[in-house]
Amino acid sequence: MLKPEIEDGQVSLADPAFRADVLTGLAARPRAIPARWFYDRRGSELFEAITELPEYYPTRTEVALLDSACGEIAEQVGPGRAVIEFGSGSSTKTPRLLGCTDPAAYVPIDISGDFLRASAAELARGFPGLPVLPVEANFMHPVPLPAAVADMPKLGFFPGSTIGNMTPFAATDLLRAMRTSLGEGAMLLIGIDRVKDPAVLVPAYDDAAGVTGAFNLNLIERINRELSGTIPVDAFAHKAVWNDAASRIEMHLEAQRDATFTVEGRPFALAAGETIHTENSHKYGERGARVLLRSGGWTPVAEWTDPKGWFSLILAEAKPVDLAP
Ligand code: TRP
Repeated sequence: MLKPEIEDGQVSLADPAFRADVLTGLAARPRAIPARWFYDRRGSELFEAITELPEYYPTRTEVALLDSACGEIAEQVGPGRAVIEFGSGSSTKTPRLLGCTDPAAYVPIDISGDFLRASAAELARGFPGLPVLPVEANFMHPVPLPAAVADMPKLGFFPGSTIGNMTPFAATDLLRAMRTSLGEGAMLLIGIDRVKDPAVLVPAYDDAAGVTGAFNLNLIERINRELSGTIPVDAFAHKAVWNDAASRIEMHLEAQRDATFTVEGRPFALAAGETIHTENSHKYGERGARVLLRSGGWTPVAEWTDPKGWFSLILAEAKPVDLAP
């Protein structure tokens, strides 16, 4: 729960975790602020707009893939599963999966209770008779599931290539936590974006209309508003770069001139050209994606891709861990 604090006669709704992440991140080298802080109300709206941009291929490619592969997915997973979604369900993806797999229950897990309850209620209206059992929790750690689904076979769902927003180190931890949450024998359907020409990748994170730029710069506005920052927004520009060694798109906020400012009274200075790193989106090749899943204890059993090979949906199973070479 956020506790309002009175500061200089103003009501501050500063989240202590936001404050700690920003102050620590601006003092670190390289400077970096965790991407989860993008998503205030305006950030969430801008993100919705990103998913509809002509340059942003992942959402529409994954949605089309879900439609074309759904029959085969249903065949592989069979009816009667509890579908466990990691993250609040998206109104474009979740109904497609639930509609074709004949599930016995739906369990969305999200850290944000408000989003979770709103999207769970909307989903439930579209599937009368399907038990919808939201769980408010941080899915980066193992999550106890509702007792009602204990004896049902499980299907995890993790779309959007969100796994790519983690470093491979953190992604492996998450996959292992999911395995612990779902249990041996469970299946997982995961969307993973593929490595492709940087001429396609970079514009997807730096669109001509400037929506992704506005999304990135909104973080500065949020810091100024919620942490009494004095960051000159016009001194910063959105930058998206392909880091080939790390196989990822990086988003940065780059100082266009020397900039000095304070956040919660603490002074910071960036020289022209210095950046604040705000997001990673790792891209995987066919084999790399499969090895990543295996690192987390998930054995790929089927996969689907679009005709251009830009995005993949992988179905994996938590088989008993094989200790043989
Ligand atoms: N996981 C998606 C991706 O990496 C969505 C996403 C997360 C995103 N953060 C973003 C898209 C920032 C654009 C900008 O593509």
